[in-house]
Amino acid sequence: MNKAKIAVLVSGGGTNLQALIDANKSGIIKSGEIVLVISNKPDAYALERARKNSIEALVINNREYSSRADFEEKLIKEIDSRNIDIIVLAGFMCILTEKFTSHYPKKIINVHPALIPSFCGEGFYGLKVHEAALKKGVKVTGATVHFVNEIPDGGEIIMQKAVEVLDGDTPEVLQRRVMEQAEWIILPASVEKVANEIINK
Ligand code: GAR
Repeated sequence: MNKAKIAVLVSGGGTNLQALIDANKSGIIKSGEIVLVISNKPDAYALERARKNSIEALVINNREYSSRADFEEKLIKEIDSRNIDIIVLAGFMCILTEKFTSHYPKKIINVHPALIPSFCGEGFYGLKVHEAALKKGVKVTGATVHFVNEIPDGGEIIMQKAVEVLDGDTPEVLQRRVMEQAEWIILPASVEKVANEIINK
């Protein structure tokens, strides 16, 4: 069967990357294959996860580029030379400009650790999202998978899943629950959905 080629962009621990790798192995993702992992951080543990699973792992360090345009050009060059069909942002902590996003319409997917439109947009990433949710006192939060366009966290929503906030939650405890109960489930499911649509187009 023809499979969509998937690149995953990461910056950190890569638990969402791991969920994608596991889903690829178990057949939850059957219409696509992860063929490339790119990290903007040389020390990201996600790179190790890729290597352990024999997936090509590249570092493209944004700090080594004098402009965002040059950084994005390098990303595009590496991605396009491998004929990638889907780009997944899995804890990728660089905001991408229209130069990049317009190159891949409906092909870039992001996972965000809140129910968009809450706690999203510029400045809301990682633990900061959960700190903001706890500060506001919401009783329900969750995760969103969406297509990426030029507006941070503004693209079309693909899937969402709600997660309860419990008394005494710290940002770390809430982050872990949102990952376990939402992100690691809806990210692979969304990737399969989009991959399936692409190969059947
Ligand atoms: C995840 O919670 C992901 O949703 C979030 O960063 C974490 C990365 O963890 N992404 C964002 O906040 C993007 N705006 P991981 O490296 O273990 O997958």
